Amino acid sequence: MSELKTAATAVRENAYAPYSKFKVGAAVRAASGTIYAGCNVENVAYPEGTCAEAGAIAAMAAAGEYEITEVYVIAGSPTPVPPCGGCRQKLAEFGKGGVRVTLATTGGAEFSTTIADLLPGAFDAGHMEGA
Ligand code: THU
Repeated sequence: MSELKTAATAVRENAYAPYSKFKVGAAVRAASGTIYAGCNVENVAYPEGTCAEAGAIAAMAAAGEYEITEVYVIAGSPTPVPPCGGCRQKLAEFGKGGVRVTLATTGGAEFSTTIADLLPGAFDAGHMEGA
């Protein structure tokens, strides 16, 4: 099992998902090679919940790293879990378009994609030039 998969699978166990019952684990590798993991953390005020990807990115930034080089997301879904729109934008903030994103099920299915394929036509800082 890859290091990223191991980290995402392990952190998924800590997901706090009493409302959806849908546990998600995410792991990102940063430019240094270090892996940061996060799980979804729900809230009784539903919109206040946070996704696994957001948790992994927050852990990376908290450690002083800001460049993602690889991503792995795993959930107990029938097909590999697609990140929500907000998480696609969050991943695009810290990873180049070609960064590999592996989406997985706990049953062993994997789908490999990239940040650019997940968020085509992404809004970025270049669009604010000349404003
Ligand atoms: N969720 C994630 O953490 N990541 C995804 O990629 C998809 C959805 C979480 C949010 C919420 O806690 C639960 O899954 C159901 O939407």
